[in-house]
Amino acid sequence: MVETGLRGIDRSLTNYADEGFSRYLRRAFLASAGYDGQDLERPVIGITNTASDYNTCHREVPQLIESIRRGVLEAGGLPMVFPTISLGEILLSPTSMLYRNLMAMETEEMVRAQPMDAVVMVGGCDKTTPAQMMAAASLEVPSIVAVAGSMLTGDWRGERLGACTDCRRYWGQHRAGELDEREIVEVRERLCPTAGTCMVMGTASTMACLAEVLGLMMPGSASPPATTGARLRVGVETGRQAVALAGQGRAARDILTRPAFENALRVLAALSGSTNAVVHLLALAGRAGVALTLDDFDRIARQVPLLVDCKPAGSGYMEDFHRAGGVPALLKAMESQLDLTTVGVTGQRLADLLDATDAPGAWQTTIRSLDDPLGPAASLVVLKGSLAPDGAVLKRAAASPHLHRHRGRAFVFEGPEDVAVRIDDPALGIEPDDVLVLRGVGPVAMGMPEAGSMPLPKYLAERGVKDMVRISDGRMSGTAYGAVVLHVAPESAVGGPLALVRDGDEIELDAEAGRLDLLVSDSELERRRAEWKKPAVPARGWRRLYAERVQQADRGVDLDFLTGADCD
Ligand code: FES
Repeated sequence: MVETGLRGIDRSLTNYADEGFSRYLRRAFLASAGYDGQDLERPVIGITNTASDYNTCHREVPQLIESIRRGVLEAGGLPMVFPTISLGEILLSPTSMLYRNLMAMETEEMVRAQPMDAVVMVGGCDKTTPAQMMAAASLEVPSIVAVAGSMLTGDWRGERLGACTDCRRYWGQHRAGELDEREIVEVRERLCPTAGTCMVMGTASTMACLAEVLGLMMPGSASPPATTGARLRVGVETGRQAVALAGQGRAARDILTRPAFENALRVLAALSGSTNAVVHLLALAGRAGVALTLDDFDRIARQVPLLVDCKPAGSGYMEDFHRAGGVPALLKAMESQLDLTTVGVTGQRLADLLDATDAPGAWQTTIRSLDDPLGPAASLVVLKGSLAPDGAVLKRAAASPHLHRHRGRAFVFEGPEDVAVRIDDPALGIEPDDVLVLRGVGPVAMGMPEAGSMPLPKYLAERGVKDMVRISDGRMSGTAYGAVVLHVAPESAVGGPLALVRDGDEIELDAEAGRLDLLVSDSELERRRAEWKKPAVPARGWRRLYAERVQQADRGVDLDFLTGADCD
């Protein structure tokens, strides 16, 4: 519980059954760190430190924290930096998603347990920003999110490169025999040339933009690249605003309203952002007590065209988006579609912010107007049907158009290891019109890894096949592309229909109609269900708690006892 009468360093007192002694002892220990009485009169601003050798995307976070610290001091606050879990996407097994809720819980609890009047949460890599926003939504302590910023682009043989859309493209070419061993190593050394998060419109970039739209970050702070002065200036501004927020006592829950979420869904569609944003926004809404559903995503996505030219749906990168004006310019371009009454961490109404914002200039081509969009609406569609009674998602803008409506024969893989062992075996006889089904990669099964965009069989890639329908209860990277149906709910590990699919079954996908059906009779499915055995849950620790309490993808994959919980 928040001790409402106490402020600054006297918040969240250690309990010795003697409040005076608790304050006295706290000051004695802080004196050992060089803090005097004058320091300890100031509002305390916590700053989360997610720098880690295991998170290369956060390599510049210490410098960003210094800029935030400077802003806090300038505004009269006392900055207190503290470590939390850091989730580096590429160095976590089996998937960083398994730990998003752990990071959200840990951040929430450490903010609550330590004395601070406001907190700046410094994230960036894919799951960190969602975890921090979920923590913020669960706290009464006012919170501002800051992100590491994106990498600058690399280049190879005259072509710009970006992680990780180009990682996948070149790896696909290598598998198809178009790039030899020496060339693929050359590309590898140039894909990630600077500190920062992936520079395409993947999950990190998408979630940074959505955090800004939701109002949890300073305006204009999603897009400055990690290595720029603009990123550090945003840090200073964020530190100053955290002190102002501490005085106002306005919590993230006051900012995370239904109109704020609807604006975020519109921007997600205009960006053709990561499919991972669907689960993260559903989880965040659950924390904030906003009744958001998959149907909201589908409804809004069908109204908003693609406006931003960034990979994987377009051709540009985050630094181009930043030069074009970033999120404020995009919001200006789609002003007529937004609810302008929302208020973010600055206390300013979106209407007032956009009054002071220029429309995207004619000199740039990254942010398009509603009259001249880059692509049609419905870049993301929600699918329902006998194979996904509670829903699944397809990033239509990233799928080959000839596969938007498709019927094919299923080939079933039981988890990522099965894919690795069998996918390239020509004896399987997989044809381009077949449907690759991957199960056992849902939230309960293994924390929902990004295994959904499984590789095409090498022998088909060598024949020039670029895309096939792939269906799973897992996720895919926001940087990936293809006709990849994801987040099938309920997942196979809890007995969803995906668990009952067999090789040779007919599956029908219709993106326009929003359907995903398994064309097998009810009686046959009942017979198979009687034979199905529920997989065992992990024996101990976080993985056991997670498997026992995690909700399905259509509920945001949060733990059931954290959703809609009362703050503090
Ligand atoms: Fe960190 Fe892509 S791996 S943002």
